[in-house]
Amino acid sequence: MKQELVARDLIASDEAAAFFNAWAIDEERHTDGFIRIIELVANGSEKTLRERLEARSHDFGPIVEHLKDEFSVMVMIAFDEMCTCRAYAAEKPFYDALGNNTFHHWLREVIADEAVHSMNAVNVICSRYRDRIGQVGTILDNLIRAADTLRYSGTFVLDYFGAVYSRELLADSRLATMRNIAKPLIV
Ligand SMILES: [Fe+2]
Repeated sequence: MKQELVARDLIASDEAAAFFNAWAIDEERHTDGFIRIIELVANGSEKTLRERLEARSHDFGPIVEHLKDEFSVMVMIAFDEMCTCRAYAAEKPFYDALGNNTFHHWLREVIADEAVHSMNAVNVICSRYRDRIGQVGTILDNLIRAADTLRYSGTFVLDYFGAVYSRELLADSRLATMRNIAKPLIV
């Protein structure tokens, strides 16, 4: 994802660059954690899991039209991180059922990280693109429509699969993102 943004020259401001650096580190840590959990729970080997991750297609085609500029990318990420935050929260019972407190705490940390990512993206939007906030609703509507009709994978955003990513979850996340963006920036 990050390489794609750099290649498309979509990171324009220092604020966004700082955001992406911190974000990439967190997401890599999450991936490592999920791989360890799958290893422990499902007896997968790390090598096979990483190979399968690598083998996922990185088809940006369907979301390219939403990656116009830094602003639209930040809106998409603010929304995406809100969705993953809520989706992980919905998966809490599964992790609790694994019977080890470590999973429970790890998932809580991941959920908190995702919420922070969303807020960080919101802060970039509010500090750099205050004049374009009126466009956020339309962008999110387009993304939700795209998520409904298209299946893409491996992009690390809008990579929704599984029952937890319901229409309701997407609609709630849209609302929460809009609300956070509408809130005046606390300086
Ligand atoms: Fe994330």
